Amino acid sequence: MSDGDILAFDVHPHAHPTSPAERAARLVNPGFGKVFTDHMVTLRYADGKGWHDGRVEARAPIPMDPASAVLHYAQEIFEGLKAYALPDGGVSLFRPEANARRFQRSADRLAMPRLPEQAFLDSIAALVEIDREWIPTAEGGSLYLRPFMFASEVFLGVRPAQEYLYVLIASPAGAYFSGGVKPVTLWVSEDYARAAPGGTGAAKCGGNYAASLAPQAAAIAQGCDQVVFLDAVEHRYVEELGGMNVFFVYDDGTVVTPALTGTILEGITRESILTLARRAGHEVRERQVSFDEWRADAASGRLREVFACGTAAVVTPIGAVKWAGGEFRAGGAEPGPVTMALRQSLLDLQRGVAPDPDGWVYRVR
Ligand code: PLP
Ligand code: COI
Repeated sequence: MSDGDILAFDVHPHAHPTSPAERAARLVNPGFGKVFTDHMVTLRYADGKGWHDGRVEARAPIPMDPASAVLHYAQEIFEGLKAYALPDGGVSLFRPEANARRFQRSADRLAMPRLPEQAFLDSIAALVEIDREWIPTAEGGSLYLRPFMFASEVFLGVRPAQEYLYVLIASPAGAYFSGGVKPVTLWVSEDYARAAPGGTGAAKCGGNYAASLAPQAAAIAQGCDQVVFLDAVEHRYVEELGGMNVFFVYDDGTVVTPALTGTILEGITRESILTLARRAGHEVRERQVSFDEWRADAASGRLREVFACGTAAVVTPIGAVKWAGGEFRAGGAEPGPVTMALRQSLLDLQRGVAPDPDGWVYRVR
């Protein structure tokens, strides 16, 4: 199958779907990543055969041989995007083509086959259609979609697998951080790095997240919410958080985010914020920001606001920053005005209540 081919998914609806009353109960306070819909999509790949056996079926455990390659060498990639209930009763995704393309870039880096963009989009449309009743309509709610792919070949040799399984699951979500839009505290990791030049930092592979767990635990142990990583070579330049990109807002209105140097995940929210900030009249720069510069600008008052952004976290203000040598305030105790304005314009676009000049809103129904 090549890009653009239409791949049909055989639909096998759940024989005993969740009752409307039970579903309503689970949607009251779904949190993040704990509640799942009734169905999933599966699609197989084998060398010589290509993509085949696409199914929409009841969500269920995946039987797996103990010698499945992913369990040994972590050949796995994933994506994260959300479906939103629109005011007119429709359902939208936000820039899903960008997720499809990033999924392909991640596949390239992990020596996996590319899933055609259309198959990625069709799998999402199929799951959203069958599980549409699970999309939260409450303020701030969305249906978080998690496409992933892993090496399913039963083989212990170290080489790219010849068989893969692509799976899509969906999870109704409230806010990623409990407690609403409150500034979070960051721990600057000076001993651990997330990604090195030539490594997998720009790919969305499970291994990157496994490597981020010890530094994230260190952040929690320091009383912080999230870890922020510096570059692996000089331990000097700010890169990103474990699952979010980072932005700085200065007193002259300039909006800055670390440049993509190959070690940072190319966030779709990041790219959207750059466009929205430019449109709102801000000067926007992608450049390296050193931790020394961050501290100095926070101390002088030149730096006014810092925020993190990503699909799961949307836009989250950063309040304080701690490192082995001390602590400083990144912004005010309250979320800053530029942060909150950018957050609102992004949410309005995603929820279909703002004009969409770039065609970012993708209707699935
Ligand atoms: N950086 C990392 C490491 C992430 O896991 C994510 C989340 O996907 C992001 C940044 C933000 O990316 P996006 O805006 O595409 O969700
Ligand atoms: C996302 O924002 O989609 C992420 O993947 C971040 C995290 C949940 C891994």
